[in-house]
Amino acid sequence: MPSQRPVRILSGVQPSGKLHLGNYFGAIRQHIALQEEGECFFFIADYHALTTIQDGRELAQNVRAVALDYLALGLDPERTAFFRQSEVPEVTELAWILSTVTGMGLLERAHSFKDKLARGLAPSAGLFNYPVLMAADILIYRSNLVPVGQDQVQHIEMTRDMAGSFNQVYGKVFPLPEARLDKAPTVPGTDGKKMSKSYGNTIEIFAEGKALKDSVMRIVTDSTPVEAPKDPERDNLFALYGLFADDAEKEALAARYRSGGLGYGEVKKILIEKIDTHFAPARARRRELEKHPEVVEGVLRKGAEKAGAEARETMRLVREATGLR
Ligand code: TRP
Repeated sequence: MPSQRPVRILSGVQPSGKLHLGNYFGAIRQHIALQEEGECFFFIADYHALTTIQDGRELAQNVRAVALDYLALGLDPERTAFFRQSEVPEVTELAWILSTVTGMGLLERAHSFKDKLARGLAPSAGLFNYPVLMAADILIYRSNLVPVGQDQVQHIEMTRDMAGSFNQVYGKVFPLPEARLDKAPTVPGTDGKKMSKSYGNTIEIFAEGKALKDSVMRIVTDSTPVEAPKDPERDNLFALYGLFADDAEKEALAARYRSGGLGYGEVKKILIEKIDTHFAPARARRRELEKHPEVVEGVLRKGAEKAGAEARETMRLVREATGLR
């Protein structure tokens, strides 16, 4: 059976607010491209989000925003099942069952849990069980490939452990999924550190006009005067420009850096233009979709139906293997 089936690719996206260039070059772009490589299931991880967002309105709003963002950026609902995690509640049933074959020790070693403890925060049982729900997300669709960032690799290893334990106890139900790490470029934030919402140094994908200008103007540069030659390899602006430009364009701008007479103010203008051109089609699509919430709802519902059918088939196998009814 699995040999006939196309590679199944699954990933979850946290609905954590406005997406930024770090999200785009670190994950979204790969997700969109992977639609060519297999059968994709992408979902918005709203159950997981409950471990951090405890405001119902905010959560619902973030979920809608991420759905719009992904559809505008090229997620193709004809090819990909795109859905809300909580519209396939069977996943919480599988999480319970997996927790019975998972050692406490495994969960205690999770980085996300240890980090919380180290920062003196009291983790909820939900946060402790986060990796079990994530394993259920992956296994309930019997997924083969999981595109994630480096920070999620441990969770995929834990998923393989849980799948292995289950298969050993009850017989082989789950394929062992693999993480797919793309060589994502590091995206510097406006302060030069890695771009991240928690550092407050982001440039949002869908910011335009004054909002975009304000973020780009905040990008930190050194104080080399306009007329002096500059080293492009040591400049945040150039690193950001490089994400959007082809090799010839990069070379041309690098030459202008080295020959002097190019000020950072001008590079900021060039960068804004690049960002505007790159995202113009996505912005137009997003504006259009925003006017038709029923279209977005329809996509998510259809995705949930496809995902739900798969999930129920897996749960039939799981219930049979475990002796549940
Ligand atoms: N934990 C992931 C993140 O924070 C989101 C996620 C939830 C996920 N379930 C998943 C990713 C399953 C991949 C597969 O980014």
